[in-house]
Amino acid sequence: MSPEEPVSPGRKLLLAAGGACLLLALSISAPVARGQPASTTRIDSLLAEMTVEEKLGQLAQYTGQWATTGPEASADQEALIRDGAVGSFLNIYGAEETCRLQRMAVEESRLGIPLLFAYDVVHGFRTVFPMPLAMASSWNPSMARRAARVGAMEASAAGVHWTFAPMLDVTREPRWGRIMESFGEDPYLSSVMARAGVEGFQGDDLSDPRTLLSTAKHYVAYGAPQAGRDYNTVDLSRRTLREVFLPPFRAAADAGAASVMAAFNEVNGIPMHAHDRLINGVLRDEWGWNGLLVSDYTGVRELIQHGIAASKAEAGVKALRAGVDVDMVSGIYGDVLPEVARDGRLDEETVDRAVRRVLRAKHRAGLFEDPYRYCKPDREDANTLTDEHRRSARRVARESIVLLKNEGDLLPLSKDAGTIAVIGSLAVDRRSVLGEWAGAGRAEDAVTILESIRRGAGPDAEVRYAKGAGVTSTSKAGFDEAAALAREAEVAVLVLGESYDMSGEAASRTSIDLPGVQRALAKKVYQTGTPTVAVLTNGRPLAVSWLDDNVPAILETWHLGTEMGNAVADVLFGDYNPAGSLPVTFPRNVGQVPIYYNHKNTGRPPAEKDYTSRYLNTPWTPLYPFGHGLSYTTFAYDDLRVSTERVEASGEVGVSVDVTNTGERAGDEIVQFYVRDSVASVTRPVKELRGFRRIHLEPGEVETVTITLGPEDLAFYNRNGEYVVEPGYFKVFAGGSSRDVIEASFRVVGEPHRAGVARGGKAE
Ligand code: NOJ
Repeated sequence: MSPEEPVSPGRKLLLAAGGACLLLALSISAPVARGQPASTTRIDSLLAEMTVEEKLGQLAQYTGQWATTGPEASADQEALIRDGAVGSFLNIYGAEETCRLQRMAVEESRLGIPLLFAYDVVHGFRTVFPMPLAMASSWNPSMARRAARVGAMEASAAGVHWTFAPMLDVTREPRWGRIMESFGEDPYLSSVMARAGVEGFQGDDLSDPRTLLSTAKHYVAYGAPQAGRDYNTVDLSRRTLREVFLPPFRAAADAGAASVMAAFNEVNGIPMHAHDRLINGVLRDEWGWNGLLVSDYTGVRELIQHGIAASKAEAGVKALRAGVDVDMVSGIYGDVLPEVARDGRLDEETVDRAVRRVLRAKHRAGLFEDPYRYCKPDREDANTLTDEHRRSARRVARESIVLLKNEGDLLPLSKDAGTIAVIGSLAVDRRSVLGEWAGAGRAEDAVTILESIRRGAGPDAEVRYAKGAGVTSTSKAGFDEAAALAREAEVAVLVLGESYDMSGEAASRTSIDLPGVQRALAKKVYQTGTPTVAVLTNGRPLAVSWLDDNVPAILETWHLGTEMGNAVADVLFGDYNPAGSLPVTFPRNVGQVPIYYNHKNTGRPPAEKDYTSRYLNTPWTPLYPFGHGLSYTTFAYDDLRVSTERVEASGEVGVSVDVTNTGERAGDEIVQFYVRDSVASVTRPVKELRGFRRIHLEPGEVETVTITLGPEDLAFYNRNGEYVVEPGYFKVFAGGSSRDVIEASFRVVGEPHRAGVARGGKAE
């Protein structure tokens, strides 16, 4: 029966009385889903047919399990599908299995409502791309868009409709393992990447079976856990919430993100899974976002541990009322709420509101038109780990590498450098190159750093390897062998850092130093006198002051995915000139945390002088500032100018700078623009990123780069909580990092101007 078909009163009665009686349902109800475009009216009439169990079933999401043949649903879950008691699954993929289950839902359940299959395509599916923090180091939204596009192509071909990405948690916390999944510390850069991620996953038309519904997660402020401990309490000012943590979500909402995921944490005493004011209030009412809000894994049940619900029933009611539409894995909406609803403790309108959103998401994915549109095994074969996808992954990986230091132009290495000693267990760690959220990626597809150095070196070079030490090992037993190898070599390449499982979810660390004895290994190798390059591969900023003080060349390569080895070799041998810039500040040691570039000035601005905001034992400055990243060429910035020295608060000002490639190689430069409101009614950060461009310059070439600053770039929340541009002096800065800038200024005149809300970065 089609959702538009009128339901006879008698039949309605039968349905209401009989619940989901399969036999009855089969005899009177052809699946609604086949061949009919669904519209709001159709959704309404479908809703009118559903029992309360079926409605709450649509709001229930369960996880598949791993079998030897791949992910699958259990027998109990199959029964739920037939009963119409589940709306979606996560962690089940593969065209065959998703198809089998879809057929069960469509052909064997009473109303035939198709299922949604969801999966975390955080940085790739089978072809794994750089971890998001690395991708942000490219400062290239088209790379993030491409990575999401390829992820969508591969995952959708494997029957997935919905991804839990992009992850948009701004963070100033290197101890927090999930920093690897973030786009770093800056709301503007994160917002630009947020938009690119949503566009990449969703394309222009969500019913195109090569797209995925995207999820902006984790709403909100998950990146500010106290002490950097995952899931911990978040307590922050409304201003910081609005100006730092919310903008990427606003950008994703504006870009049409189909769904948003609630965060595990509380914000100022209210767990996000029950935060009516931030979900229904800000996200839906204030921003007009109309998508599907999904809980995080068991997030609804965790309201009990948070201490704001005494029972599962109370947790479920609180979450649903706060606007959490889908219950991931807690089992509360599906198992507990039907009875609560029947008792009248949960009003139907609240349930219907959420069910409508689930059905609308299924409609947007085109599943009411054709529930099997994602079930094409031949498409799965043709779209998995293709050469083109691998090429894209290599391109994104190269753009994500950051050259932190290059004294005496030690890099790039000559391909005929004689003997190259590669040292460190991470050089051969095939799993770690993929990073923590490796999707459906497989280690056997990946290229290790050692393999690629071997492949990239010229015929006259000899590449030799020594392990030195394991990542977390405390044994120095391999040191002598490593030192002997280095001594005989022309150059030593030390591969140091963290294995993939040292970052990601539930992987916080109190130390951000190189784990184990890796620093001692570096020292041992360095002391041989052989020129040494450090290749860092890690999921968070590391405190590597010793390396910076001693080792002449340092590359930050993060975890770059399937093509990591090739990308690293491309950069080491100069086939690619690195241009990545840090999306996050690197502290000198963990004691400086939180340290971020857009800090306040304080009444005693930091300086290396008594009674200023500083430390006795460590400089107050970071090891590497936000935006830092070198190249094999050099760039000069000149003539920063503004289009007008006086502008109305509602007006716009153009900012231009001339950038010259002053070296001898072609290269990319990330041109960064920052602003500062010099005097305002509340204190303002010393700098805020408000624009950037990644440009390519041939040797000697000059390019004028211009951005336009409008009210949204100059506004802030005033004492009354209004987002306004205030008259007064502004500074504007341009440069190759947040530290190395030239400056100009202009003045805003006239009356203060209301600028809406903080939206985050504009489209690049
Ligand atoms: C928990 C994580 O917090 C979230 O990011 C992820 O999407 C879900 N698990 C599902 O895997």
